[in-house]
Amino acid sequence: MSDPIAADIQRAVAAVSIPDVDATLGAAGARIETRITADGPVVAVHLGFPAAGIRAALESAVAAAASTAAGGATAAKVSIDWSVTARAPQGGLTPLPGVKNVIAVASGKGGVGKSTTAANLALALAAEGARVGLLDADVYGPSQPTMLGVAGRQPGSRDGKTFEPLQAHGLQVMSVGFLVDDSQAMIWRGPMVTQVVNQLIFQTAWQDLDYLVVDLPPGTGDTQLTLSQKVPVAGVVIVTTPQQVAMQVARRGLKMFEKVGVPLLGIIENMSSFVCPKCSHEEPLFGAGGGADLAAECGIPLLGAIPLDRTIRAQTDAGRPPVVAEPQGILAQRYREVARRTAAALARRPADQKHKFPRIVVESGR
Ligand SMILES: Nc1ncnc2c1ncn2[C@@H]1O[C@H](COP(=O)(O)OP(=O)(O)OP(=O)(O)O)[C@@H](O)[C@H]1O
Ligand SMILES: [Mg+2]
Repeated sequence: MSDPIAADIQRAVAAVSIPDVDATLGAAGARIETRITADGPVVAVHLGFPAAGIRAALESAVAAAASTAAGGATAAKVSIDWSVTARAPQGGLTPLPGVKNVIAVASGKGGVGKSTTAANLALALAAEGARVGLLDADVYGPSQPTMLGVAGRQPGSRDGKTFEPLQAHGLQVMSVGFLVDDSQAMIWRGPMVTQVVNQLIFQTAWQDLDYLVVDLPPGTGDTQLTLSQKVPVAGVVIVTTPQQVAMQVARRGLKMFEKVGVPLLGIIENMSSFVCPKCSHEEPLFGAGGGADLAAECGIPLLGAIPLDRTIRAQTDAGRPPVVAEPQGILAQRYREVARRTAAALARRPADQKHKFPRIVVESGR
């Protein structure tokens, strides 16, 4: 790109802020290609994360920056696309077949809305334009089959060795809830739990996923520790409510992941304020700003705050979470913001070399 105008455009476009994501295109690692044609500048922006919800806004911002940099005489033609690549998991673990990135959703305390958040995050990533799977690794209380409207169904197997994930609202889904009933899972002990979860993770035939969202069991005990050491996780998000107690436990969770080298992508504050169903007034029922304080203290981003809204409970418990029940609604928009920020945070992590150069196994003997 020797043309000085093209270089100016390139610089101006790199400085454009990405809506909802706390970064410029340059800082987010976007690839920008600029050509000067007889009809004016042509700019192609390639993102490393899905961004369907902001594509139009970003296109206008890039076009405005490019036209200004080109002297304002001609309008710039802009295109925006994305492709998700694998990011390095902790400890150089080997990636899962068919999965570029595992995103674990964890919480210190139970009942903070981890499963609800995981379901909506997975659906929101898909709505943004990614191929997404959801693994319900919470053997003690699998809730994803109900939340995604596929309870009572069973996964099949084509080869007699691996499970075929079920399809729900465009996601590939696997849950211990498809295999056993709740009362059976409750009596399992640590090693048994780990074995079952390992089986679900490593013996499911995931099909070409950009992201596999994993709903982890609540807490920071042995099961969680073993999982966070064995499963190749590209990044973890921590769900917390704003109360002091929930955050203290979330802090313990953060430390555990830090210790085993799992990259922390950020914090999602759930039930951050109460939305009155009558007057739509938002009230910080459990205190305000807790998630932001914890994020600042730990030096990681606050990926978003989701209100306590009975629509979330009603729709998610009925098997159609807000992201699919009301895709244009305010709640879906909030989850999609969180999804974009999560995916953008992941895209800034170092690439996974193992994915680029797959291990070659020479099989001998028959
Ligand atoms: N933002 C929210 N607004 C309203 N209700 C919510 C919200 N988030 C979760 N809930 C509701 O709170 C209850 C608990 O949520 P969920 O099952 O997702 O929590 P969890 O952290 O996964 O719990 P567990 O520790 O039992 O796995 C559910 O009934 C869910 O519908
Ligand atoms: Mg749960």
